[in-house]
Amino acid sequence: TDDRISRISSTIRVIPDFPKPGILFQDITTLLLDPKAFKDTIDLFVERYKDKNINVVAGVEARGFIFGPPIALAIGAKFVPMRKPKKLPGEVISEEYSLEYGTDTMEMHVGAVQPGERAIVVDDLIATGGTLNAAIRLLERVGVTVVECACVIELPELEGRVKLGNKPLFVLVSSA
Ligand code: PRP
Ligand code: MG
Repeated sequence: TDDRISRISSTIRVIPDFPKPGILFQDITTLLLDPKAFKDTIDLFVERYKDKNINVVAGVEARGFIFGPPIALAIGAKFVPMRKPKKLPGEVISEEYSLEYGTDTMEMHVGAVQPGERAIVVDDLIATGGTLNAAIRLLERVGVTVVECACVIELPELEGRVKLGNKPLFVLVSSA
């Protein structure tokens, strides 16, 4: 395998009991402090997507805004922000999704994407898969093909992949 992956993995800090007891928080801010690890992270995604005719990189607020834009620039795609409610000023479509307690809503600008475009959805981490699933639904509602979801980290025990159905998921680091 690629030894860039082990370097990336070693820069991710794990913080116990954040934001609440029992949660092992996967902190990517320490990856961002290591310019080589950050560049390798972006490069690995770019190598995978550069020749796949991707027009849209969709990123989920907030941490998807860190990894999505450099990938979009490198592959020549547009970046589309998927935001928390009441942040986008134009007309939006929205999707609800479930969190551990309660629900949240994700919004995307109408007109940001066109039917027939090909997208990837980028985020830092997949846990239950609810966030990525909402992003997929927003894009597919307007006729965009979601080619794949891409994350730095997967928490496999939460089986978020199952929630994505048959949608491919590409991750760099699987965290036990
Ligand atoms: C975190 C993470 C993913 C999501 C994954 O975001 O950045 O977006 O949770 O969880 P899921 O697979 O169970 O949906 P969070 O909503 O905590 O906020 P942030 O990105 O704004 O920090
Ligand atoms: Mg997030």
